Amino acid sequence: MAGIECKNIHKTYPVDERTLHVLKGIDLHIPEKSITVILGRSGCGKTTLLRLVGDLEKPDSGEIHFDAEHKTAFVFQESRLMPWLNVWDNVIFGLKKQEVKKETIQGIIDTVGLKGFEKAYPHQLSGGMQQRAAIARALAYEPSFIMMDEPFAALDYFTRDQMQKELLRLQQSRGASILFVTHSIDEALLLGHKIVVIEDGVVKREFFIKTDSGVRDLLSTVFIDLKREIINELDL
Ligand SMILES: Nc1ncnc2c1ncn2[C@@H]1O[C@H](COP(=O)(O)OP(=O)(O)O)[C@@H](O)[C@H]1O
Ligand SMILES: [Mg+2]
Repeated sequence: MAGIECKNIHKTYPVDERTLHVLKGIDLHIPEKSITVILGRSGCGKTTLLRLVGDLEKPDSGEIHFDAEHKTAFVFQESRLMPWLNVWDNVIFGLKKQEVKKETIQGIIDTVGLKGFEKAYPHQLSGGMQQRAAIARALAYEPSFIMMDEPFAALDYFTRDQMQKELLRLQQSRGASILFVTHSIDEALLLGHKIVVIEDGVVKREFFIKTDSGVRDLLSTVFIDLKREIINELDL
């Protein structure tokens, strides 16, 4: 199966005199061309897992396999834009000169809804627009996987709702492969094709949601039932 394969991943951190065993044998397949959501309570090791899969950190033991060549891009809770660069220059930041194709970059900026803001600086943008620029920067890198760590968590309810819908559209139109971390059950239900519930350092359960083209209605019986199942799984 194409995608990323995690096998028996363990990760510990030394804290004071003790060892914190964060991930205790994660087995996980992350398919390409869809959204896999890692869901779990705060501190359960979601960011740690994303950092390991994104090769920002090494596991203590276990294996992470990618099929073929891969390039990963990241989007975090804060946009991490360069404050001294405008939107355009932030989006092409990190690309080599010969990789910058103007029409492609403009297309990406248009897709994320920042047309007309190419010359704006981060401080002139709303939080949602800053995250759009961060997503554009990730797309410009043409990654095989996009790792998103609670990218909408700092946004207000309305902006967050809009961004989630935009991300769905973007994923569908580009067939993007996304690993998305969140502690919000609703967000997981809105976005995930596969929802992976993490607890006590292991994958507690996986839910598969049939691919649909439209925006999901979380108030429909199917999703209410699914939400109840996830709540039970998390002992809430
Ligand atoms: N570099 C680190 N050093 C020590 N402890 C860490 C480090 N990174 C994360 N942790 C601890 O590992 C646990 C999981 O953290 P994290 O993966 O950030 O959780 P989540 O993203 O699910 O909220 C937490 O208890 C956190 O304090
Ligand atoms: Mg985190």
